[in-house]
Amino acid sequence: MNDLNPLSCLIQVEQFIGWTCRLDYEQAVVLTCDQWKAQARGVPHNCFLLAAAAAAGRPAAAENGPEEIILLRVTGSAPLPADNETLLARIQILMARQFPPAASAPDAPSDGQFQFGGLGCRILGTFYVQDGKLRLGSDLESYGHAPYLAVYRPAGAALEAIVNFVSPERAAAAQEEARRLDLPGELPRFPIGTVRYTSTDRLHRSGACEPAVFYLNAVDFLARRTAVFGMTRTGKSNTVKQLVSVVMRTSQGSGLKIGQIIYDLNGEYANANQQDQGSIAEVFPGDTLRYRMLPTAGFQLILNNFFTQVVEGHTTLKGLIEAGKIPRNADLEAFLSMDFSEPRREEYNSDGEFQRQSGIYQRKIAAYQALLARAGYELPPNFKITFEANPGIRNKVNPSVDPAGGLTATQACEWFQLARQIQDELITAKGADWIDPDTNALMNLLLQRNDQGAYIPGFRLLQPYKDYHAPNRTTDVCDEIYQHLVGGKIVILDLSVGDPVQRERLGKRIAQHILRQSMAAFNSGRHPPHIVIYVEEAHNLIGRHEALTDIWPTIAKEGAKARLATVYATQEVSSIHPNILSNTENILVSHLNNENEINELAKYYDFRDFSRSLIRAQNVGFARVKTLSNPFVIPVQIDRFDPARERRRAVPGRLGT
Ligand SMILES: Nc1ncnc2c1ncn2[C@@H]1O[C@H](COP(=O)(O)OP(=O)(O)OP(=O)(O)O)[C@@H](O)[C@H]1O
Ligand SMILES: [Mg+2]
Repeated sequence: MNDLNPLSCLIQVEQFIGWTCRLDYEQAVVLTCDQWKAQARGVPHNCFLLAAAAAAGRPAAAENGPEEIILLRVTGSAPLPADNETLLARIQILMARQFPPAASAPDAPSDGQFQFGGLGCRILGTFYVQDGKLRLGSDLESYGHAPYLAVYRPAGAALEAIVNFVSPERAAAAQEEARRLDLPGELPRFPIGTVRYTSTDRLHRSGACEPAVFYLNAVDFLARRTAVFGMTRTGKSNTVKQLVSVVMRTSQGSGLKIGQIIYDLNGEYANANQQDQGSIAEVFPGDTLRYRMLPTAGFQLILNNFFTQVVEGHTTLKGLIEAGKIPRNADLEAFLSMDFSEPRREEYNSDGEFQRQSGIYQRKIAAYQALLARAGYELPPNFKITFEANPGIRNKVNPSVDPAGGLTATQACEWFQLARQIQDELITAKGADWIDPDTNALMNLLLQRNDQGAYIPGFRLLQPYKDYHAPNRTTDVCDEIYQHLVGGKIVILDLSVGDPVQRERLGKRIAQHILRQSMAAFNSGRHPPHIVIYVEEAHNLIGRHEALTDIWPTIAKEGAKARLATVYATQEVSSIHPNILSNTENILVSHLNNENEINELAKYYDFRDFSRSLIRAQNVGFARVKTLSNPFVIPVQIDRFDPARERRRAVPGRLGT
């Protein structure tokens, strides 16, 4: 064997299965026979074959090796001209045969010609060498009518080389990216499974040969879109877990920081559950952060601090109250429509007016914070409610305290209560807007009295939502999460608990923040961090009826620039927005159960080759995978995410063990 010719390494003489007897640009017919097939441990439906010229008396790999190798996929049987006569002869033999056969009767007809048959194949491409490098063209440039090409079923190392082939251009791009990220060598690749052709895998994946490991290249996966489709319980979540795990392990081994965030709608990634005996959080305890909407041991709160993230807190309360269908009164209506955003200088004509508005804003915030405190929302540690009040007002309300120095919750409530009692005086003294309508409504809610002095439930209406406030949080949760991602951590957003409207809103807000921050880095000429966003039940977010301007479609469409990779999982191919699907670089599909879905999928690449097998084979984790680097679909058994094994892996980044 000549090691200098990269093509020679693909030819495995012991895997010879026949000869091409017809060939054109699209199809090939391979003449094979039972004995050759048996030697090569069978020829499964959809398996890859290699066809190459074999010099007389020598196998193809001799001396300089072949000039090109044609890559084929077996799509079925092919009729041969002699088939009818053979069939007739066979029938005659069978008609004369007894059952049970006599001891002397052969198991199969011994006549050689009965053993021959045709295989129908599709041309997938041509391997050839240019400038010393192996290349793969996705078609056949030219073919001869006369030559017989020897055909092999690649296995083991040759098969692994075929399914993991990366063009020199993409390899160069991966090297360039690695250099830019200061990584030694190339970008890593992630082992996710092994080649599997058929549901019945007694022969082609038997212990006699090492299964060929299939890798997802970081250069295909990072900053790209990956779709995971399949019927329920066919291994979509397992695929996601496996991806998260190999990406983490490989990134630890290579030094490339890759942040990963999982939108976990069912809580299956965050928690150990009986079915999967483990979770991502358990496998990478030091690198995983779990977020939830309600206080739970081991989880951070997705929520914000209502006292410090005032706008966010108010938006949350507003959503909760609106969803709660609480009877409205004028003060509650006013509360719901309040805007707590800070006044900006450019909105006002003069400094004086801006300062006046800032004062109003300060008092409004203080009244709101006092209202929260009165409703039982815990103040952050050492937090004081602070606002300016000039000496005239201070003396009228309560000469003994200065709100500018900060008030405790009780002091603030008392201050506003006293202010309410002398409100008429304050208004005449300072002009009608010292207590503006918003502050007035907030005071009404605080003191449970409306403008007419009648009882209203006031602050009590806010009491049921206390769990949505995170008193110990000092930064915005979105920023905290983003920083974890920049640091290469796994963030699991467990969205299985809490108010559905709030879950969706917060989930979106976090996604928006990630996109905004990474886009800002991109727009200012910096390199955004690598982040992978995993979304389950994706039809809800990037479904075919979603507006493409919404945050999720925007991330799916434009996230690549900002180095955001999206992995989305759902049961139906047809449920995803076609615009997004057609821009998805990697597609992994396991069992689908109907023609509609198959037809939808068959519009993409050569998935049509797998139409029958996708409907028939219901094996869990048996996926057909199209990646950016591969010009054709590869059937792969995705590895089972095995928490115990993952934990045992001693060397981060070691592949496939
Ligand atoms: N590749 C695999 N090898 C072995 N077992 C697997 C594999 N993938 C999944 N399983 C097992 O099959 C079961 C279902 O898998 P999983 O939860 O990933 O399916 P799913 O497609 O996400 O289902 P759903 O649509 O209900 O979310 C799990 O118990 C899982 O451990
Ligand atoms: Mg699932």
